[in-house]
Amino acid sequence: MRENWTSKAGFILAATGSAVGLGNLWKFPYTVGMNGGGAFVLIYLFLVFVIGIPLMLTAITLGRKTQLSVYGAYKSIDRRWTFVGALGVICSFIVLAFYSTVGGWTLYYFKTALLGDLVTTDSEALQKIFHDLMTSPGNLIFYQTIFLLATALIVLKGIQQGIEKYSKWMMSSLFILLLMITVRSLTLPGSMEGIKYLFIPDFSMVTPTVLKNALGQMFFSLSIGMGSMITYGSYLSKKINLLHSAVMIPILDTSVALIAGLAIIPAVFAFGFEPSEGPSLMFITLPAVFASMPMGNLFAILFFILVIFAAITSSISMLEIAVSYFVDERKTSRNHATIITTSIIYVLGIPASLSLSGYYPINVGHLSLFDLYDQLSSNILLTTGAFFMTIFVGWVLKPKNAIAEIESSSIHFRLAPIWSVLVRYVLPIAILTILIESYRNFFQALFH
Ligand code: PHE
Repeated sequence: MRENWTSKAGFILAATGSAVGLGNLWKFPYTVGMNGGGAFVLIYLFLVFVIGIPLMLTAITLGRKTQLSVYGAYKSIDRRWTFVGALGVICSFIVLAFYSTVGGWTLYYFKTALLGDLVTTDSEALQKIFHDLMTSPGNLIFYQTIFLLATALIVLKGIQQGIEKYSKWMMSSLFILLLMITVRSLTLPGSMEGIKYLFIPDFSMVTPTVLKNALGQMFFSLSIGMGSMITYGSYLSKKINLLHSAVMIPILDTSVALIAGLAIIPAVFAFGFEPSEGPSLMFITLPAVFASMPMGNLFAILFFILVIFAAITSSISMLEIAVSYFVDERKTSRNHATIITTSIIYVLGIPASLSLSGYYPINVGHLSLFDLYDQLSSNILLTTGAFFMTIFVGWVLKPKNAIAEIESSSIHFRLAPIWSVLVRYVLPIAILTILIESYRNFFQALFH
């Protein structure tokens, strides 16, 4: 018997846990910063509603219909499409390899905050903390290992006792912590600049690259395109209302991304940092914010706990893709599957961590291994996976069969005709158009 979530709320929290992660707290704010601010945010919101929500529905429906891992889901409907499932499993290894690198950084920052060494407004000192970590192979490896072990331990316990249980309490505490920190950031002098930057669009900044980045960011943040949502959907009972979940998860995820933007970007302005700083933004600017508030050290500790929770509830959903493949298709036990998959990720992930340190620069073309994994996953693999998924559901499974699955929990899907047109025509064309730009950009970054 396949395990099920204990309730709809349990599923929504686990799936939101998958969606809300480093993508929201770490990537979203700096991606907004690197792509010009308000216009990017607006495009992002538009994409969530037009592409994200319909595809979220597509993914969880596919999972619940087949009750199989992403690999089995495609294979059981049409063997010729098994490659898309295989792509998802491969992608989960690559994404987790770099995700766990950053997961390790958050653990290190948590420790630094605990020791009271993090909180200062001296931007040089903050840059030094980040730089010291990047050039310390021992620390990078140690913390990445701990992060992966924690992920594996939760997945090992299964759906109800592992993923659902931990997602529930981690996500609930995350919401509370995030609100506390945002209120503080918004009441800093100078934060108005940041709010303007986030919400007042300047359309002269919009280029095809910005569009491509917004789409990639959206798939990454919603965990769509490699099978997390298909896998989580496969543990749903037939009673659950899929429509409600498909709307709730993206709304919660997007709210957290915006709140994270509100917590981080105004502070960036208030302290005179650059919003286009890049991946180090969260690590370098936020401690300065904490330094300026009463009980700042406590807030810093709480914040990094929050980031760790968010990251782990996402990384377990990545690992579960691969674990469920081994359990369903290779008939291994969950324990074995977890050990095999975690080991593979470890072998891929350690070099990614090290590729950033000055001692072991590992480059592929012009990209460090870390950047290669990062760009490959958000800009290429997830978007490609999402593209195949719409074609598959639109033309192979056919919307009418998906709609029957959605309506099997005695609900009426009023927007079914619109959704069918989206899945068959609009989304594949839209995604493909942007995907071409993504491939062009990717190869350019790699070779030029
Ligand atoms: N959505 C997660 C985040 O925002 C990352 C993720 C991507 C998780 C793909 C699962 C699958 O951090």
